[in-house]
Amino acid sequence: MARYLVTGGAGYVGSHTVLALLDRGDEVVVLDDLSKGHRGAVPAAAKLVVGRCTDSAALEQAFALGPFEAVLHFAALSLVGDSMRQPMRYIGENVAGLTAVADAAVRAGCRKFVLSSTAALFGFPERVPIDEAQPLLPVSAYGESKLLCERALDWADRVHAMRFAALRYFNAAGADPAGRAGEEHDPETHLIPLAIGAAMGTRAPLTVFGTDYPTPDGTCIRDYVHVSDLAEAHLRVLPLLDHRSVRYNLGNGTGYSVKQVIETVGRVAGRPVPHAIGPRREGDPASLVASSEALRRDTGWAPRFPGLDEIVRTAWAWHSAHPRGYAQAA
Ligand code: UFG
Repeated sequence: MARYLVTGGAGYVGSHTVLALLDRGDEVVVLDDLSKGHRGAVPAAAKLVVGRCTDSAALEQAFALGPFEAVLHFAALSLVGDSMRQPMRYIGENVAGLTAVADAAVRAGCRKFVLSSTAALFGFPERVPIDEAQPLLPVSAYGESKLLCERALDWADRVHAMRFAALRYFNAAGADPAGRAGEEHDPETHLIPLAIGAAMGTRAPLTVFGTDYPTPDGTCIRDYVHVSDLAEAHLRVLPLLDHRSVRYNLGNGTGYSVKQVIETVGRVAGRPVPHAIGPRREGDPASLVASSEALRRDTGWAPRFPGLDEIVRTAWAWHSAHPRGYAQAA
């Protein structure tokens, strides 16, 4: 049993990772300003410190609840489109949050760190599946901010012997299979919750962003990976941090098109997803599929929910039980 600090633990991937840590008997302190996260997403068994990562008093309060075996840093602004409207804010806040938390960890004597990174590091990739050797050429301020975070951690490693894992998530999707947590963003921009909301009638019909991509059905292909599998990967990399820093691409390795997602949601829901065809969304690569061979080889990680059907089923179950999201529990 060990104790972990999870920043952004009230958010989507963060809250599922908190559950994974608690499930295996670890203790968890969450630091979250609740600007995007939800109080209801933090299990009662975790301690919650409400505050920003850049707030030294909040950091002090959180680290006083240590010592921590490692810090898992999820807290960040994460919307690609939004980052192109306010690039300085994304780069400034994401890098400032990371450096403040890493600095506090070093001062507290904690030398293990896991960073939520992103497929957006690769911009428009040369080829898929995308392995770790592909060039890092972000095409959004969000991607750039995460690249800078990874580079900052290189310096923490070099100077302070802080070992880190940067996990580049592809498309996180689904919900805790036991129904304890799910996906709720405001605004919601992600395909699966929007398609589910459209099918449930709680959201407007979905707009398909472009059908003229060079893919078999003309819509974009993405690698949807179950959020509990993402959470599990964080646990799997922790032992490596006794020895070295690592970077891994994290996805299922299978791509599904927007049309396939719409069909799958329709099948799971038992009713069609109302949708219309719209123009392309700026900045969308045609296809993003991960090679997670390195992660599998080094840690034995394998997705428990590799199929789109089972991913969508868990998402559908959570949204059906929480049509108003976490507000319901409040
Ligand atoms: N899409 C639609 N209509 C919508 C929403 C999405 O057609 O209303 C399409 C998008 O064009 C894309 C696919 O559905 O082809 C998935 O879109 P999401 O917004 O759900 O996810 P993204 O692939 O854009 O974003 C993901 C992660 C980001 C990461 C990015 C890298 O969520 O964190 O990949 O490009 F930065």
